[in-house]
Amino acid sequence: MSSNNPLTTSSIAPHPHLRDYYETEEQRRQLLDEQFDHIAPDYNWITQATSFGSGNRYRQEALKRSGLIEGHSILDVACGPGTVSLGAQRIVGETGKVVGLDPSLGMVTEAQKQGVVKVLQGKAEDLPFPDSTFDFVSMGYALRHVTDLTLAFKEYLRVLKPGGQLLILEISRPDAFLPYHVSRFFLKQVVPLISYLGTKNPHAHKLMKYYWDTIETCVPPETILQALENSGFVQSQQYTLFGGLLRDYSGSKL
Ligand SMILES: C[S@@+](CC[C@H](N)C(=O)[O-])C[C@H]1O[C@@H](n2cnc3c(N)ncnc32)[C@H](O)[C@@H]1O
Repeated sequence: MSSNNPLTTSSIAPHPHLRDYYETEEQRRQLLDEQFDHIAPDYNWITQATSFGSGNRYRQEALKRSGLIEGHSILDVACGPGTVSLGAQRIVGETGKVVGLDPSLGMVTEAQKQGVVKVLQGKAEDLPFPDSTFDFVSMGYALRHVTDLTLAFKEYLRVLKPGGQLLILEISRPDAFLPYHVSRFFLKQVVPLISYLGTKNPHAHKLMKYYWDTIETCVPPETILQALENSGFVQSQQYTLFGGLLRDYSGSKL
């Protein structure tokens, strides 16, 4: 990567300020923590219902496809109620180690209830671990919530061992006209409604609407890949499904 590339050192917000929801960065952080705290007990139901029952299996398959194996140590950033961590525990087995991390106390509590053995409260941008601790770092459907992509990616690189692997699962706006409009209708209208009707949780509707707005305004995949490279990852690539609605980003530490 060229050293005079403007992205090399600069911070990259995953999406612009969404003034319908917050004015300042502090308000954005507060909104996220409150909403995720409130939704924590219902999050698994929403994920499984809106992915037609395939969400947990997809996450576990993605971990395997990216090279997670028995005996590995993995940090699952933004673990939520353990959706990725539980799949990781099944793969790494008793000889491996899974640590879930999330800023929302509600999510951390729920992850423990669901059976994630080790869970801590913390954020992607400031990981509470020494350098070169993990074989693998994962982040499921939370990249849009970090303050700065570069900062988060540098933290992921720091805590990975040499040769370690990063996997980021994301939802993004498809490029083509039809997949874009079908996804927009489904995620902006149907998902908030199903989430509310299925859980009766008043926060579900607001959070799922916010969810689409962050997807719609998120930086493009090329910027995410470039930020990975600029942060020091090699072999960064994306795996896409459903016309780009699902995108998994991966990268390795040399
Ligand atoms: C949509 S949930 C994803 C849960 C789970 N990883 C999954 O695959 O479904 C997003 C999670 O990101 C967490 N989160 C928000 N901001 C974060 C940050 N800066 N660092 C780490 N996690 C964050 C939230 O608390 C929430 O639990």
